[in-house]
Amino acid sequence: MKSQELVEKYVMKTYARKPLCIVSGENATCYDENGKQYIDFSSGIGVNSLGFCDDDWSAAIAKQSQTLQHTSNLYVTQPMAILAEKLCLKTGYAKVFYANSGAEANEGAIKLARKYSFDKYGAAKKRYKIISLVNSFHGRTITTLAATGQDVFHQSFHPFTEGFDYAQANNIDDLLAKLDDTVCAVMIEWIQGEGGVNPLDPEYAKALSAVCQEKDLLLIADEVQTGVGRTGQFLASQHYGIQPDITTLAKGLGGGLPIGAFLCNERLANCLQYGDHGTTFGGNPVVCAGANVVLEKVDDGLLEAVRAKEALIRETFAHTPEVMQIDGMGLMLGIQLQQKQAVTVVDECLAEGLIVLTAKDKIRLLPPLTISETELKTGLEILLNVLNQPNKE
Ligand SMILES: Cc1ncc(COP(=O)(O)O)c(C=O)c1O
Repeated sequence: MKSQELVEKYVMKTYARKPLCIVSGENATCYDENGKQYIDFSSGIGVNSLGFCDDDWSAAIAKQSQTLQHTSNLYVTQPMAILAEKLCLKTGYAKVFYANSGAEANEGAIKLARKYSFDKYGAAKKRYKIISLVNSFHGRTITTLAATGQDVFHQSFHPFTEGFDYAQANNIDDLLAKLDDTVCAVMIEWIQGEGGVNPLDPEYAKALSAVCQEKDLLLIADEVQTGVGRTGQFLASQHYGIQPDITTLAKGLGGGLPIGAFLCNERLANCLQYGDHGTTFGGNPVVCAGANVVLEKVDDGLLEAVRAKEALIRETFAHTPEVMQIDGMGLMLGIQLQQKQAVTVVDECLAEGLIVLTAKDKIRLLPPLTISETELKTGLEILLNVLNQPNKE
């Protein structure tokens, strides 16, 4: 049986998969079972930050898998130690906890926020509520779904974890109205990814940060999608000049292997103690060896290149009538269309050999940070042609 048929028969139908089986790739170029070539503007939804099979990344994980693949978190390994130092030095945070996915990193961040509040104010005060934003996306576990401010994800899975409420993004009055005595933290995405590539207003971000400081609320930034260079800074928070108390990472950190992490500042560094949190695979040596290569490569030069690529993308569509607006930063961009349906554009691009994503009604571009100029220009030409074609209906 072909892969397509095997998946159809044996895998749960939770994804609307395209009729495409990718078999190999290099940087932002990949091939299907029939040898057809595609330019990839999706990086596996922001994961393959160094593209497909970067030589150094592949070599590092191959070597690590032949040296030591797993111990347990009862012991130290070199890759996780090196990665911890790199992450803290690059971000200015004091400590990291390793998880395996974005949802798991967010779960840990929520636990950390509640523990801080309970330790400081006492469990009797019930100061445990987390305010997140309407239209946010924080993951698929029961608790991170509770944190996700979109009802569409909430059908059929009640009851959720208690202690979550949602405030309108970019509306400080709405946030203030929701801050009762039970709130311990506010959780945000600097740019809502799944919600449609919607950046927070800088003024709102400043006001939010000030309120959090004033009321001793922890600010948790979910940088699962925006982190590790995606927006043209190592962390998207750097665009806003704000250092949240906790930042979560995942997707792009591993360059294609599963990892999540939450980082915290000094005052939270010793809040979680022995036994408070754990996960079997967290800090896995092979995964961390890959992440170490990602962190080495996401340096100032690469970040500058990401910003230059953003400028090229924006220029390309500056006079395209179908393009109403481009939202986002760096290589996390959402193209708002005038008339065309984003889902149709995705299929038309795929037929022409270009992989793009949607985010709500926008076309979402998340190419590898390392995409070459030639790959970028080839892909943009395909997208431009598709957008310039008259509507078929
Ligand atoms: C901002 C954000 N948070 C959390 C998640 C969940 O990450 P994961 O699918 O790795 O659990 C995602 C995934 O799209 C995300 O974009």
